[in-house]
Amino acid sequence: MVSNEEREKIFHEELIRIYDERIREFTRLCLIQAPDYFFTDCPASSSGKYHPISELGPDGTMLHTKKVFTVAYELCRALNCEDKRDEIIAGCVIHDLRKQGLTRTGHTTRNHPDLAAQLVEEVQEVTMILDDDAFKVIRDCVGYHYGPWSTGKWKKPLAKYTPMELCVYLSDYTASKRCIEVDIRR
Ligand SMILES: [Fe+2]
Repeated sequence: MVSNEEREKIFHEELIRIYDERIREFTRLCLIQAPDYFFTDCPASSSGKYHPISELGPDGTMLHTKKVFTVAYELCRALNCEDKRDEIIAGCVIHDLRKQGLTRTGHTTRNHPDLAAQLVEEVQEVTMILDDDAFKVIRDCVGYHYGPWSTGKWKKPLAKYTPMELCVYLSDYTASKRCIEVDIRR
């Protein structure tokens, strides 16, 4: 099992960039509630067809998450929603925490955006750390992060995406492309 301290340490650079204390604490708790496999064995692409080669190892999704975070940190300015940067980057840390399902399945699950949105709901229900607006923005950024590949209740036209939802979706999309290199060392 990966300890809580270790989880925090892995995402230390990201957590300290969340300015709002409550959003930072909420994100930390989501990391603690995430399944162990996310930290031990979760390649960014289970088929090997997508994502840069460097993300096909066991730490792939962690590395990918850091890249998405890095892109979104900048892109929120381009999309003129920098005032919601904390919610956006929190959503980035959370968006793939249940990528292979509630327990490890060995492959990416199609409904992982919904599972991650449920994680946001579960942590909020128990802790009530976030105000209603921050909670909804984070949950929806996570739930809608699959764009046109979304399923079920998370399916909606891109034209209806908020700038914050677009920011997480586009950051996820671009950061996972082999032609784009993202330097997470800042
Ligand atoms: Fe992702």
